[in-house]
Amino acid sequence: MTNQLDKKSQAWSALFSEPMSELVKRYTSSVFFDKRLWQADIAGSLAHADMLAAQAIISAQDLADIQRGMAQITAEIESGAFEWKLDLEDVHLNIEARLTQIVGMAGKRLHTGRSRNDQVATDVRLWLRSEIDLITELLVGLQKALIAAAAEHTETILPGFTHLQVAQPVSFAHHLLAYVEMFARDAERMMDVRRRTNRLPLGSAALAGTGYPLDRERVARALGMVDTHGAAQVCHNSLDAVSDRDFAMEFAAAASICMVHISRLSEELIIWMSQNFGFIQLADRFTTGSSIMPQKKNPDVPELARGKTGRVVGHLMGLITLMKGQPLAYNKDNQEDKEPLFDTVDTLKDTLRIFAEMMGGITVNAPAMEAAARRGYATATDLADYLVKKGLAFRDAHEVVAHAVKTAQSLGVDLSELPLATLQTFNPAVEADVFEVLSLKGSLAARNTQGGTAPVRVRAEIARHLARLG
Ligand code: ARG
Repeated sequence: MTNQLDKKSQAWSALFSEPMSELVKRYTSSVFFDKRLWQADIAGSLAHADMLAAQAIISAQDLADIQRGMAQITAEIESGAFEWKLDLEDVHLNIEARLTQIVGMAGKRLHTGRSRNDQVATDVRLWLRSEIDLITELLVGLQKALIAAAAEHTETILPGFTHLQVAQPVSFAHHLLAYVEMFARDAERMMDVRRRTNRLPLGSAALAGTGYPLDRERVARALGMVDTHGAAQVCHNSLDAVSDRDFAMEFAAAASICMVHISRLSEELIIWMSQNFGFIQLADRFTTGSSIMPQKKNPDVPELARGKTGRVVGHLMGLITLMKGQPLAYNKDNQEDKEPLFDTVDTLKDTLRIFAEMMGGITVNAPAMEAAARRGYATATDLADYLVKKGLAFRDAHEVVAHAVKTAQSLGVDLSELPLATLQTFNPAVEADVFEVLSLKGSLAARNTQGGTAPVRVRAEIARHLARLG
């Protein structure tokens, strides 16, 4: 028996009078990147075949042959023996052709009631679903690394900034937990994307559905495309099912937002590491030297992560632009969804993995952080709040403190270093207890609203996160 799929010129039908040009073959082929979908492709085919047999569309023997053939193909791909052929265009045709080579007629029956259009949409969803699960785990790992670092620094004080100008003292733990919030939202977003990714296009065939008595819900259940109550999740409109790539765009958007968080953290690490700050050091294994300047230790990892954020955001733009002009239903344009999606997944996973490890190994220079907080009049707001407690209106207190800061600046000292008599010249309400609020520690402890930087609050947040993450 000759295998039609072995010869690309005959893959479609006898309709074509000349073979495809070599250039077009290379231009249209996707196998060298979409072979990555092979496990999803085989899983989808097995679920489809099982359903075809259950519905008596193919025989039990056909199903057994298909299962045997797919087991062999799996082994071949895993061992590297499988020969991927450019001539067979994509992962789907490569696997189907090999199946027919191994099991004969049953292989030719597999594609009954199916098109590559619903097949590829199913494969990408299955593949992305498992990647989302891995990413969610990596996000948990990163959060835990940040929380572990935070637990050691609830009393370590650094200046909190607005406009990158010293604003108010915060604890390093509080600062790290801000990123935990971001990564927790990223994980939520991933789970939300997963819900809409986990729906079955298969059974939509090319675009309009099919006349075979398919049981789509059976296939959905076999592939784990179910909601939290175990109900099968199938795409409800065949035109939409084969052409919808919302899940890819949504994923790229969620990945982009996550990378933006990584990028912001990177920027801070880079600043904190610079000689002018000297707040932290990254473990040597995360830094690189210079080929000319012997004293250098460069934060290449955060810099690259900041750079790779642009790449992932670019993929989001690429995917959105890919979809914007497409009429229903499937168009070959959609083949272009894969490389940006694959690269987004790879970049995000590598970045999350390396950040979890890197954040676990930072050294904190607490005295440098504290000295920086002292330099910037970080407790000025505390003095204003103190005067409010003594009866001044906040706006008036604000003005009084501005004068005090101006004087302290001209003397080159901190507010807490001004003598009581001098402080009293700005407002007679100032008493000896003022020095408590002017201390960084006092300032920190005072910010004890829910979500504030007071150590008691931050410790409670750490406990909440740990309970949440299990
Ligand atoms: N390789 C194709 C893709 O990635 C599979 C679907 C092809 N369908 C078609 N009608 N040409 O989108």
